[in-house]
Amino acid sequence: MLEPTRPEPTRHPAMFSPPLLKTIANLLGPPPPGQPPLLLDPMGGVGTVGTLRHFGWHVISNEIEMEWACQAPGNGSTPTVGDAAALPYADHSFAAAVTSPAYGNRLADHYMPVDLSARSHKVRRTYPMYLRRQVHDRSAARFHWGKVYKELLLAAFVELRRVLRPDARFVGNYKDHFATVVRRGVKTRERRCLTAWCITALEDLGFTLRARQRVPLRGDQNTNRARQRGDAVIDHEDVVLFTAPSNAHQTALPF
Ligand SMILES: C[S@@+](CC[C@H](N)C(=O)[O-])C[C@H]1O[C@@H](n2cnc3c(N)ncnc32)[C@H](O)[C@@H]1O
Repeated sequence: MLEPTRPEPTRHPAMFSPPLLKTIANLLGPPPPGQPPLLLDPMGGVGTVGTLRHFGWHVISNEIEMEWACQAPGNGSTPTVGDAAALPYADHSFAAAVTSPAYGNRLADHYMPVDLSARSHKVRRTYPMYLRRQVHDRSAARFHWGKVYKELLLAAFVELRRVLRPDARFVGNYKDHFATVVRRGVKTRERRCLTAWCITALEDLGFTLRARQRVPLRGDQNTNRARQRGDAVIDHEDVVLFTAPSNAHQTALPF
């Protein structure tokens, strides 16, 4: 039985898949010699990044939602609960980081059916559906692609740079998506280029892009329907390796 003070763990709609974890592990490599092998996932979900312990890393998974953070130990990582933009760690604490943020897509819809067995539940997935409540105010999973979403991600990148050691490795997992936009009564599909935006934002903060790989997606029901309609779809996730600035303290803030 769960203790009264612990939230009930709930499933997560966007965990790292085994192919993603394999690609991340290959890009990241083993811990550098002569440093504590500390690795952080600042938006860690249920802490599946803990699988990297098999490569010698000690993994800390930070997550804003308690119900997901509390599952991290079962997945091999040490949890902290809090905002990725205000981490409880000293400057230059980590030898590496890995993360996948919420993508600012339809998973961020606030849709939460009362009856989870309803038909709509089978074709829609949202963070609140899985969490069984709306997400935290400071969660990037609360917002669609746009100004507020980008500000939250940027604040998390600045904080990431603070806690990483100079030249530390950082692997980010991102995915573009299409959104239907109506302008003057005309519907168009617009591509939200999350990967390119994150690369530019990180480079502006002094990170260096080292490698980029694609991981093919099998495609869910919605993607397959869009494909059948002839709509463009994104058929892969991006995994991108960066190194942190050599002297993080001397890199100017972007604002
Ligand atoms: C794509 S999911 C990560 C899933 C994770 N890789 C896993 O395998 O479980 C993104 C996560 O970021 C969390 N998140 C969003 N905004 C956050 C913030 N400001 N601070 C910490 N976590 C945040 C969300 O709650 C969500 O669990």
